[in-house]
Amino acid sequence: MSKLDLAIVLAAGEGTRMKSSRAKVLHEIAGRSLLGHVLHALSPLEAKEIRVVVGAAKDEVTNHLAQISPNSKTVLQEVRGGTGHATKLALQDFSGTGAVLVCAGDTPLLTGQTLLNLITAHQSSGASATVLTAEMLDPSGYGRIIRDASNNLAQIVEEKDASEQQKQTLEINSGVYVFSAPDLIAALSKLTVNNAQKEEYLTDVIAILKSEGKLVSAFLTEDYTEVFGVNDREQLATCGFLMNARICEALMKSGVTIVDQMSTWIDVTAEIEVDVHIEPGSAIKGNTKIGKSAVIGPRTTLVDSNVGAEAKVFESHCQEAVIGKAAQVGPYTHLRSGTVLSDQVRVGSFVEIKNSLVGSGSKVPHLSYVGDATIGSETNIGAATVFVNYDGVDKHKTVIGDHVRIGSDSMLVAPVTIGDGAYTAAGSVITENVPAGALGIARAKQSNILGWVLKKRKGTKSAEAAAKKEGEK
Ligand code: UD1
Ligand code: CA
Repeated sequence: MSKLDLAIVLAAGEGTRMKSSRAKVLHEIAGRSLLGHVLHALSPLEAKEIRVVVGAAKDEVTNHLAQISPNSKTVLQEVRGGTGHATKLALQDFSGTGAVLVCAGDTPLLTGQTLLNLITAHQSSGASATVLTAEMLDPSGYGRIIRDASNNLAQIVEEKDASEQQKQTLEINSGVYVFSAPDLIAALSKLTVNNAQKEEYLTDVIAILKSEGKLVSAFLTEDYTEVFGVNDREQLATCGFLMNARICEALMKSGVTIVDQMSTWIDVTAEIEVDVHIEPGSAIKGNTKIGKSAVIGPRTTLVDSNVGAEAKVFESHCQEAVIGKAAQVGPYTHLRSGTVLSDQVRVGSFVEIKNSLVGSGSKVPHLSYVGDATIGSETNIGAATVFVNYDGVDKHKTVIGDHVRIGSDSMLVAPVTIGDGAYTAAGSVITENVPAGALGIARAKQSNILGWVLKKRKGTKSAEAAAKKEGEK
């Protein structure tokens, strides 16, 4: 049974302090938007309905919501009127009589567990309103929790409206609340704009309920970092750092080695199996999956890629690539979208591969470009081979069989097919198919002009060396 009739997410503010052309709640940490993190924390609550108040950059925010949370509804707040005003709009035509949770779209570190604990506390106390609070070492910028002589919650005062004495309070308002719906709706109708920001503050609802003799209570979080809000880029970085630490710690607990947490950045969406070893300076982004006992890094970026068990990927950048079991990639390899390396493939330094399948046990060890190709198994691509896939207008395919030996510095001009077991001579420009077992050779025959240096480069060190060799004869 769902415990909540409604969850309201306030996300209409401009986020002026971000100094960004993008809506604040669309900024990302750990590969997910701030709003996405908040909605993720709401999911275990199984609210009957979710309403998100949008305003600034409403089209972008609405489109984003349609992708990440298609069941939530948006409510438009055309002009900023304060958090109380935004909540009022969200409750128009709402007839539920149960519990309503209100939170902001800019507190990405909140967890579902803390929200569940808050709801449980609210329900067991029977309060009209329960505020999630935290004790901060530095409370500046947040609304302060003011308690009465018996230490009960009395009111919330915004920093801009607080007296010097009130500002000393370390307990702050997280901006997350659970209310009894009818009490909230009644109290919202009594809000005024008599404050420093000339806005309807949702926080004033607490003092209104209290003055009517209703029970209001504060629920203190264990982990104060969970309620950190993002108002500027510095806070965005702080929350990103804390989220990353949380992800790394969970992975280490599950059996992943992370040598240097400080320089390793892992998105919430990554899936990493046991005994994976991650060296410093690595980033694991998007829907990347890494199989058992793989070694990643140092300085490796994996984006939406799939790495097989026991593979080693170091000093490399891989995007939308599949890397087979026990394959080796790097140093300095660039795998682009559509690359599929089968098991035990080896790809080495300064190699770029795009939209190509490399068969099991094959090697592309040095200085090559492979594009739009299918390579069989146990084949070797010599150093500095280029798959010439683009004729200036269209892309063409290269097909290479099993056990092929492509000589160093070959140009394979697509479309072209090299049969099983075939060879190409080093330095060839291969424009015709090479049948199975044949040697393809396509280059001018070498001729030596004897004595050329002595005649044409008189007085140089080269001529001197050549003359000395002549003398020795
Ligand atoms: C708010 C609280 C403060 C609390 C802090 C926690 C109020 C008056 N203050 O302050 O007590 O400590 O959050 O992070 O509630 N929004 C709208 N429409 C509006 C105004 C705001 O949708 O008209 C949204 C914003 O987009 C944001 C959230 O409400 O997601 C909070 O607004 P913000 O301006 O960031 O409030 P704070 O000053 O942080
Ligand atoms: Ca805020």
